[in-house]
Amino acid sequence: MGHNVLCVDNDSRKITMLSEGKCPIYEPGLEELIQRNMAEKRLNFTSDIARAVAESDVVFIAVPTPPQVDGSVDLSYIEEVSREIAESLTSSCGYKVIVDKSTVPVSTGSKVMQTIKTYASEGVDFDVVSNPEFLREGCAVSDLLHPDRIVIGSDSPRAMKVMKQVYQSFDAPILETDLHSAELIKHAANSFLALKISYINAVSAVCERSGADVELVAAGLGLDKRISSHFLRAGLGYGGSCFPKDVKGFIHISDALGVPFDLLKEVERINQRQMERFLNRIRERLWVLRNKKIAVWGLAFKQNTDDIRESVSIKLCRRMDEEQAIVRAYDPQAAANASRGLADTHVEICRDMYECVRDAEVLVIATEWEEFACADFGRVRELMHLPVIFDGRNLLEAESVVRAGFEYHSVGRRSAYPAKN
Ligand code: UDX
Repeated sequence: MGHNVLCVDNDSRKITMLSEGKCPIYEPGLEELIQRNMAEKRLNFTSDIARAVAESDVVFIAVPTPPQVDGSVDLSYIEEVSREIAESLTSSCGYKVIVDKSTVPVSTGSKVMQTIKTYASEGVDFDVVSNPEFLREGCAVSDLLHPDRIVIGSDSPRAMKVMKQVYQSFDAPILETDLHSAELIKHAANSFLALKISYINAVSAVCERSGADVELVAAGLGLDKRISSHFLRAGLGYGGSCFPKDVKGFIHISDALGVPFDLLKEVERINQRQMERFLNRIRERLWVLRNKKIAVWGLAFKQNTDDIRESVSIKLCRRMDEEQAIVRAYDPQAAANASRGLADTHVEICRDMYECVRDAEVLVIATEWEEFACADFGRVRELMHLPVIFDGRNLLEAESVVRAGFEYHSVGRRSAYPAKN
């Protein structure tokens, strides 16, 4: 968008990599974007927060806000970075807009403002703004550049004016709100999307019992514009670094405000039950899991990312490993992270999707990578010991895998079997 951007991180390893034009995570299109903007001298990286604050008109805070054991949001990184920004501010450095991009509980902005006032020298001129981020991993670049909406929450008209300049070349509606409403929009939006997923997953359980097909039911729901077809894909449940944390966070925030949000507690329960139901079905099919060879395709929490945080697939691998199944798993991008994440288990990470299925008694599809849908199932059939697929993401076409000789189990749909000769 033509702005000059100076990125700060206290992880010097990341800063070194980025300064060399290398992206520390797998995110389609991001490395090219970094390299292009570096070449055009608009994008730089540093560990020097004081320099970054001094040189900038707008300072975005984008630090993690992880969940604590009780589900509340850990705001210590926000507090720390607010203090560091405060200590970098001087009355001679001019007006600054401090923008919170991290997902934070409603009213955190006021605490950031108070913290900066407490630790900054006299006479500094600044405002605090909330500008929540809605991008999804795996399509972050496109989500960032083509957002459905841009939410800017501020109680200062001066700061609002600066923020509208920051976003002036974006072709998206800008919703202007007060500081606290913007903060709440993020938790409310993510929790609503998680609710949609749990809703269709609960429907998938009814479909399995009744013989209805959840894909058709979701299509019928999605055609109603008031419902929309987005986030109605039944599967193993939602994972990742946002939904599980944000639903928990919103439950905790509401509880703390004295307005318990029981609906969201059920959203969480349905999400947990979804994986358990799937595991039960695998167990029923194999009778006991002990010493059964199980291949798992997909370890990332979803496709097009190497992120395994709160990945349902990782949880599933752990559970099967605990029951002493012999689990071998493959993921096109998340293998390195999964090796670390599953280091305390017997799960073997394979480098090749076909090697992974050799002698397996079941193939579990746990992440919706495109390459799994395009696999050569004739070859997979030859390599496996038993031709059984459990598709946790409804990725495959039942008809074609059955034609390749497989028994096919998916979520919220009837199981399909090859014709007996
Ligand atoms: C989410 C929000 O979508 C995004 O707006 C916010 O900024 C960050 O959190 P992300 O966690 O990257 O993004 O992934 P998303 O695509 O939303 O998927 C989250 C989880 O839900 C994944 O595990 C995915 O597999 C699952 N999911 C998603 C479903 O099970 N069904 C669906 O229909 C959609």
